[in-house]
Amino acid sequence: MRITTKLILIISCLLMVLFMALAWTSYHHDQQMALAETVDTARSIARQIIETRNYLSSVVQPGQVAQNPALIPQVVASQIALRLTKGSPYYVRQVSLRYRNPLNQPDPFERETLQLFHGPHPHERFQVVTANGTPTLRYLLPMVAERSCLLCHGSFEQAPAFVQQRFPRGHPSYNYKPGQVIGAISVSVPLTSLYQANLQGLEGELALEGAILLLLILTTGWLIHHTILAPVTQVSEGIEEVVSSGNFSTPITSGSNDEIGRLIHSFNELMAELQRRTRQRAEADTRYRNFIEIAQSPIVTFLPDGKIVIANQKAEKLFGLSKEELLGQCIFEFMADPQPLQQGIADYFSAGDSQMIGNTSRQTIRDICGRLFEVEMVVSVSQTEQEAMFTAILRAIKE
Ligand code: HEC
Repeated sequence: MRITTKLILIISCLLMVLFMALAWTSYHHDQQMALAETVDTARSIARQIIETRNYLSSVVQPGQVAQNPALIPQVVASQIALRLTKGSPYYVRQVSLRYRNPLNQPDPFERETLQLFHGPHPHERFQVVTANGTPTLRYLLPMVAERSCLLCHGSFEQAPAFVQQRFPRGHPSYNYKPGQVIGAISVSVPLTSLYQANLQGLEGELALEGAILLLLILTTGWLIHHTILAPVTQVSEGIEEVVSSGNFSTPITSGSNDEIGRLIHSFNELMAELQRRTRQRAEADTRYRNFIEIAQSPIVTFLPDGKIVIANQKAEKLFGLSKEELLGQCIFEFMADPQPLQQGIADYFSAGDSQMIGNTSRQTIRDICGRLFEVEMVVSVSQTEQEAMFTAILRAIKE
């Protein structure tokens, strides 16, 4: 896999995780906010109703209520609640454990919550429940009996006649004390549309973020490719080119000033140095060849295994071969007894020196036609980094 692909994959994964996390957090946050807003609305509806009832209870005269039952605080509050919530998803009721009107009978959830209100310091309670498969917010605000309420919710004897008629002695809706919870305003709101709106918001957000993500990935990929990978590829191609062609002369161009630019610069310097050395070596080689060419003695240069790599004209004549034929031949083949020279080379490698090297010895040379010559031979060694080369200077002994 190419580095660009790998990097893009890694970055994509990281960004994707990041965006998912962000989207999830923001969705969660939206959900919380929406719920908090819904609770606020439920609370303000409930408060308005309670305030209406409290106000009415404190101003209305029993005689007026007897004449017009529509003025019963409970009835007025119910009507106001109806009008307040008309056309909205909010559904409001007033419930009590000791209800007068069977319509105000609490459902199981309300009953449970009302029971909790009987402790000290009753306060609002809400919860999201699933009703008929729909997530629904249930909100209850306790209603506390004021002194004015006791007119109709206190003792049976005190209650106006129209109340006594409807709710006979012993009815549970009497005998409240001030401060006691008499019931609650119960608000419920299905949250489906709210959640759906959030979900749509999330979808929109995800689409937008996806587009941004794609753009980010493409841009990052492009940037990484152009600023890092392309120059690196250029360097590696340059090296490959040098390796395959052996040509050190064309430098790699670099436009950047960063680490890669410096790498290319160093590479070019290395190439220039190599080129310089190669040239120097070639020059030294040429000088050496020219020099041995004019020498009056046969000279051959050979590798440790005897393979001849350089020979001069006099050597050609001595061995009876042209230069092309001579190069690549083994020097030992031309010696009547190659053993001392082979031993000398072996000694040089094992002990670092040898009797053969630097000293003149007598050897018998056999030319290509099989003729034998007595010669004096001096062998020298030149050690380069990679290998040793031996040069033999021969001098024919005239009998
Ligand atoms: C003038 C008499 C009167 C006064 C004052 C009065 N109520 Fe009531 N209340 C009634 C009657 C009658 C009902 C039954 C209404 C119906 O038939 O729906 C009722 C119903 C209720 C209910 C509904 C539960 C049920 O029993 O059906 C609650 C809760 C309630 N009253 C609380 C209060 C509070 C709190 C106050 C004081 C702020 C108060 N009432 C003042 C007469 C009164």
